[in-house]
Amino acid sequence: MQSAIQFSSGEFVPLEMHKVRVVQKLNLLPVEERLRAVETAGFNTFLLENKDVFLDMLTDSGTNAMSDQQIASMAVADDAYAGSASYTRLYEAIVEIFGTEYFLPVHQGRAAEHIISQVFVNANDVVPMNFHFTTTKAHIELAGGRIAELYTDEALRIKSEFPFKGNIDIAKLEALIAARGRDNVPYVRLEAGTNLIGGQPFSIANMRDVRRVCDKHGILLVLDVSLLAENVYFVKTREAEFFGADIRTIIRIMCDLADIIYFSGRKISCTRGGGIATRNRELYLKMRDLVPLFEGFLTYGGMSVREIEAMAVGLRETLDMDMISQSPLFIKYLVDRLDAAGVPVITPAGGLGAHLDARGFLPHVPQLEYPAGALGAALYIISGIRGMERGTISMDRDADGNDVPSEVELLRLALPRRVFTLSQVKYVEDRVNWLYQHRDLVGGLEFTDEPKVLRFFVGRLRPRSDWTRKLVARFRQDFPAGR
Ligand code: F0G
Repeated sequence: MQSAIQFSSGEFVPLEMHKVRVVQKLNLLPVEERLRAVETAGFNTFLLENKDVFLDMLTDSGTNAMSDQQIASMAVADDAYAGSASYTRLYEAIVEIFGTEYFLPVHQGRAAEHIISQVFVNANDVVPMNFHFTTTKAHIELAGGRIAELYTDEALRIKSEFPFKGNIDIAKLEALIAARGRDNVPYVRLEAGTNLIGGQPFSIANMRDVRRVCDKHGILLVLDVSLLAENVYFVKTREAEFFGADIRTIIRIMCDLADIIYFSGRKISCTRGGGIATRNRELYLKMRDLVPLFEGFLTYGGMSVREIEAMAVGLRETLDMDMISQSPLFIKYLVDRLDAAGVPVITPAGGLGAHLDARGFLPHVPQLEYPAGALGAALYIISGIRGMERGTISMDRDADGNDVPSEVELLRLALPRRVFTLSQVKYVEDRVNWLYQHRDLVGGLEFTDEPKVLRFFVGRLRPRSDWTRKLVARFRQDFPAGR
């Protein structure tokens, strides 16, 4: 099992267990050009052009590095509308890894959410979960339902040593079912590697408790396994019962506890695509007819056969500890150093990325001036690093048009798997530290153009004062080369 490797100084350093064989050139623009680029992008990092970005830490979605084996598999892709051998290979991998006899391919994770919520969620239903993901919430609401987040008290505490912040609070779950009635709860949703609270795992002990509650009331359990690999890594390293267990066993225990699992292939398999899997034929049949309608025929579901081949290989690579530990070890390295320097960052380190606490970072920026968005713009200006706002901008307004302050106000710095080297991670650490020293210079943002749904994707904003120019001038003083 790979973990950080001991150097002769005694320090443990995460070591890449892969080598770089294809590279992409990066640009590190001077600070003034970065300011122009973010102005053009309406201070929304989603609208930056990648050519202007030095380290793209927006997401791990579709940006993980593929392995040579994945690339090689694409050469044998079998082009057929129906009955492709590529699909059969993917199906066999799904059955082998998840133990689910029935599988529906879809074009990406939110397509799975669309189908599941269209089939199971009715008007006035409530779907309890550990925490929402943006697309999950939007699809459940589109179907007329709403979500209830039943996280534990530890989940939103920025600095914590609690190993399983992704757990569901079982007492809250029982209370919700009692209050709403089991007929209005179509399923409970558990998200592995809970994304929006900092890539935090749940324990298998907690999942077993959730299952018991579901069984008691006859409610389905739906598991989002997009970030399964990270959750498995943390179960194996943090939950005593599983310290010696192999990855395959842990995955099977988790999948056996769920009625339906679904995933974004953009995360779990380092490919595009997604899928829904179940052991239950009845549930499968309920969902099956929507796949040809919205996605494509049942043996491709909107994916190309090349993606399907690479997905089968990528899913099997999830069984390799070297593979699934790489990103969490790099994240821990970055998080522990930022934390030691006093930078407000979510602890313990989770999966997916390092999550800066924008409220702690910029306490002088009111929440309705979008501190996480402002921090994202500021970090890009001074470093060329692109993060993702995961705070109030990522919440849409309520029915009365009011902003909905997010419970956590985060800037996510994703570490896609096998993509960055340790010196790049050190650059991130250095520039985040510099910005923290000069945080007083960062001000708030306001919308100039605001879509109604998922506004964070294409909404445009502007600074509420001329803080960006002062920040650039201060950066120039310390870095005369401008970068
Ligand atoms: N579920 C989780 C836990 C996710 O993180 C995502 C996507 C989805 C579902 C939707 O999958 O993008 O393939 O449609 N997360 C990406 C992110 C977008 O940046 O964290 P998708």
